[in-house]
Amino acid sequence: MKSIIIGITGASGSIYAIRLIEELLKNNINIYVICTETGRKVVKFETGTDIDEWIGNLSKASNNIHLEDINNLFSSVASGSFKFDSMIILPCSMGTLAEISNGLAKNLLCRAADVALKENRRLIIVPRETPFNAIHLENMLKLSRLGVTILPAMPGFYHKPKTIEDLINFVVGKILDSLSIENTLFKKWGD
Ligand SMILES: Cc1cc2nc3c(=O)[nH]c(=O)nc-3n(C[C@H](O)[C@H](O)[C@H](O)COP(=O)(O)O)c2cc1C
Repeated sequence: MKSIIIGITGASGSIYAIRLIEELLKNNINIYVICTETGRKVVKFETGTDIDEWIGNLSKASNNIHLEDINNLFSSVASGSFKFDSMIILPCSMGTLAEISNGLAKNLLCRAADVALKENRRLIIVPRETPFNAIHLENMLKLSRLGVTILPAMPGFYHKPKTIEDLINFVVGKILDSLSIENTLFKKWGD
């Protein structure tokens, strides 16, 4: 069974994380969620969801979801010997992006990303900000050169979206494509 770490930060677009977790659970993937303090507040503000309660309820029905304490650097997730297949940070704030691109591993989310980099595991970052300044762009370029997939929350419109759900599914579908997980969340060009 695949294990994936999901990092949620205080950037706008927490609904993407919620949708991705739902899809990964359908695919029987073992998920470790790490949420920053601001991430928690933005999830609540934007979606009305209490992340602790939501994951608590999901874990009653599934053994595949685990909520990690961001301050617990003793967690197994903090170690290179913990085997996970991929880590996705979505939405990723410019603050967390800067920490990761500068090798700061002061919380469990940044430490897990640091481990992904040193162990050459797949790391997908879904940045959200507009416009980007040169610091943001340099941080993304630095990580991209290290093999990180920079997958901005930037839905296309060629699939003729009709609802916000269609736009969310486009971005989540792109992430699943990057993870080589088959999905029909959006109509692929040429289908
Ligand atoms: C409602 C709300 C939306 C935000 N949206 C963004 C955003 O899209 N991108 C970003 O980089 N920061 C955004 N911020 C600011 C970050 O939350 C802030 O920089 C915070 O320190 C990030 O911390 P974290 O990376 O530990 O979650 C937003 C803050 C709030 C309250």
